[in-house]
Parts: sequence; C-alpha cells; structure tokens
Amino acid sequence: MTDTLKIGNVAIERTAALAPMAGVADRAYRLMCKKYGAAYVVSEMVSAKGICYSDRKTAELCTVTDGERPMAVQLFGNEPDFMAEAVKIVLDYKPDIIDINMGCPVPKVVGTGAGSALMKDTKLAAAVAEAAVKAAGETPVTVKIRSGWSKDSINAPEMAKALEAAGVAAIAVHGRTRDMFYSGESDMNVVKAVKEAVNIPVIGNGDITDFRSCSEMYDRTGCDLVMIGRGSYGNPFIFREIAAKLHGETYEPPCLEEKMRVMLEHIRLILELSEKCEELAMHEARKHAAWYMNGYYGSAKFRGRCYQLSSYKEAEELAAEFTELQRNREINKV
Ligand SMILES: Cc1cc2nc3c(=O)[nH]c(=O)nc-3n(C[C@H](O)[C@H](O)[C@H](O)COP(=O)(O)O)c2cc1C
Repeated sequence: MTDTLKIGNVAIERTAALAPMAGVADRAYRLMCKKYGAAYVVSEMVSAKGICYSDRKTAELCTVTDGERPMAVQLFGNEPDFMAEAVKIVLDYKPDIIDINMGCPVPKVVGTGAGSALMKDTKLAAAVAEAAVKAAGETPVTVKIRSGWSKDSINAPEMAKALEAAGVAAIAVHGRTRDMFYSGESDMNVVKAVKEAVNIPVIGNGDITDFRSCSEMYDRTGCDLVMIGRGSYGNPFIFREIAAKLHGETYEPPCLEEKMRVMLEHIRLILELSEKCEELAMHEARKHAAWYMNGYYGSAKFRGRCYQLSSYKEAEELAAEFTELQRNREINKV
C-alpha cells in the first residue's frame, strides 16, 4: 500500500479521513480530529443556492484554516448554474478540494432534488458535477455518493462512471442506500464495485469504528482512502490509532485522564471559536462532552448531566467527578 494518494494535485496520507457531518464536524471538531491524526477533513454541507444568495452563514461554513488542511468544502445543490456560481464564490476561501454531496438522505435536502435524490438522475448528477469542475479550474472536485436510492436500484458504480466522465477527481462512497438512512449495515461490496468501475481514487465510507474495520475496508474493497464519521464521536484518537497501526507502530490507547483532558481541550476550542456567549456555546459542546464519556461505568447518568452543562467550569468539575468515580471503582474492584 502506498503512503499517499493524490486527489488532483492534493496529496493525502492513506490513513483515515474525517467524513462531513452537519451539526457535528464543525471547525473545532475538524481541528481536534486533524490534531489527533485525520489525514483529510471535509466541511459540513453548505447549500450552493444559499451561497449564491449570500446566506449569512456562508463565511463561517466555508472558511478553511491552515490547521485543517487538506480540507474540502462540501456543497449541495441540483442546479448546474447555481453550483458553478457557488464554486466560484467558495474558491475565495481557498479550499484544497470542493466536494459535492450526492448522498444526503434527509427530506429537507432530498425534497429539493439535491443530496441522494441525484442518485435517481445520473444525467443531472453529471451535469451538476461538470458545472462544478469547469468553475473550479485547478481545484479538484470530488463527489460523495451512497450505494443507490433503494436496494432495488443500487447504481453507485454507474453513477461513479458518469461522474468520472464529468471530470470529477475522486468519489467517496457510503455503502448504504438512501432509504436505509443510517440503519442496517453499510455494504463494502458496493465500495469494491465502485473501485473496479473507475480509474479515479475511491474513498470508502460506512461503519468504520476502529483499526480492524478500517483495514477490512482497505483490504476488501481496494479503496484509496477510508473515511470515518460517527466512529470519531468523542474519539479523535481513532485517527491516531489507525495511522500508527498502518505504519506498524505500537499504539497506546488513551487512558481516561487523557480522554477527559482532550474533552476539555475540545470544549475550550468550541468556546474560543464560537461567537456566542459561553452559556450558548456550551449547548454546542454538550453532545461532544457526553460522547467522550461513552463506554465507562455509570456513563449513562453522566451523559445526562453533560446535557445540562452551561459553563466550562462545570465541565471541568464533571470531568473530575467522572474520573474519581472510575478510580474508586478500580480500587474497590481490587
Ligand atoms: C450527524 C451526521 C451528519 C452528516 N452530515 C453529512 C453532510 O453534511 N454531508 C455528507 O456528505 N454526509 C453527511 N453525513 C454522512 C456521513 O458523512 C457518513 O457518510 C455516514 O455517517 C456513514 O459513515 P459512518 O458510518 O462512518 O458514520 C452525516 C452523518 C451524520 C451522522
């Protein structure tokens, strides 16, 4: 396995990338994942039309900071003209890559004909991609797709071929159909079929939660890069683990103290990057705090308490109490 892949002119380490996740993978999240080893990150999806009408959230969603690179800004939309216009606007933010979302299953997006609705119209999908490619110039354009609309219409390989012909530089595939949303299992065979269908790099995505499932994705599909979404919740260390093990280095998983230290680091970053007051910014931080506590004794109760946090000081106190609980439990077990 070679160590880097090229998407257009962008070199990316072949370890694991962070998937785009609206409402989760914001700048603080991306910076944390990058710091702990993500090879590549993608922004939350941004509406192409919204950008053209200078939606006030555009700057916040499209800004790329050096600590996040290589990074893609992801757009969604189903109108080639708006897509081209949006790409030109986004280029001012100097993303390394522009990604187009053709996999989002949510009714609000699908209802407009964008996201995974484009899986049902390969021709329009290719026209949207081609418009983006033309507008993007030197900047590579990639597309993220699902395996198909439903189990009776799995068309990711044909879709990928049409997108390749439209000039797209890489394809990311989530091995679920639209109508599965996030239930059932992601199908690696579809990722493999896409890899066999095209000559551009293919990024495999869906249900990767550790080094074992990541290696399985690489081995079974022949994909060029693996992308992780939910497996990184409260666990930016997953990227460090995968990178270390792929490089044949020993890996020491984080102890609880390190996890709590990183959780507090993540919360500080959320507060620092937010324009909101501490109390409101803490609303953003709550779910992340809860995720860092997953999998420990008594964590259900503590996760509930995370959802009430309204200051950094409270988060510090909760982390200390949680650590103390786990320590006492260890002592009592001995
Ligand atoms: C909360 C959430 C938000 C998501 N937002 C996006 C998005 O903005 N763009 C996109 O292409 N996919 C989005 N996805 C899909 C993920 O990128 C990924 O394809 C999916 O979660 C499967 O990967 P996983 O099993 O590693 O989580 C989102 C998923 C989740 C759970």
